[in-house]
Amino acid sequence: MKQGIKIMAGKSRNILIAKIALAASLLFGGSVATQADELKITDDTFKCLAEMTKVKHFFVDNLLGDLEATLAAVNAPDGAVYPVGSVVSLVPTEVMIKRHKGWQPRTNDWEFFELNVSAAGSTIKVRGADEVFNRFGGNCFECHKLAEPKYDLICEMEHGCDPLPFTREQIAAVQQQDPRCTGIKE
Ligand code: HEC
Repeated sequence: MKQGIKIMAGKSRNILIAKIALAASLLFGGSVATQADELKITDDTFKCLAEMTKVKHFFVDNLLGDLEATLAAVNAPDGAVYPVGSVVSLVPTEVMIKRHKGWQPRTNDWEFFELNVSAAGSTIKVRGADEVFNRFGGNCFECHKLAEPKYDLICEMEHGCDPLPFTREQIAAVQQQDPRCTGIKE
């Protein structure tokens, strides 16, 4: 009798463990797949520049936590395809985010954002692939697509894009004045 109860307890415990394992695999397996396939990008996704990582003359992050892979792409001497989840921002209001493969082949899966920023945070003004204009009437993609293919639409100064009508000093000043934060950590 004692033995029987023990066996039952063992069995039902095993079933319970199996159920938990199944639930966990559905839960975590499912959420990982969703993350990779579909980044949830809302106003809250965007951070003040000081909370991002400064590299060269712009700021980066990675929404999937793989900042190292994004930095490796920025620093690749001969260009690289940026990893999914990469966030790149030149000035507080202009951001590019690398979506999953196949999101929009025309833009190498980059989504462009024009934000409104204030001390209260960021709000997305316009977002999309090849239909986003900045506040000066320039289409993001039309300029960025001129970068040599190996640079994955990242312009910097010597990758082939049409130049911005601003000097690096002017850009740095705008970066320093991000209203969402106070001061850029060097
Ligand atoms: C007139 C052409 C032009 C337009 C329009 C334009 N960009 Fe750029 N963008 C550039 C150039 C050139 C650079 C590099 C500036 C530098 O390195 O000093 C740049 C830099 C950037 C960077 C930093 C990474 C890189 O490519 O060097 C991001 C992010 C960016 N732009 C996003 C945007 C977004 C978002 C829009 C639209 C809302 C936009 N840009 C519109 C030309 C343009």
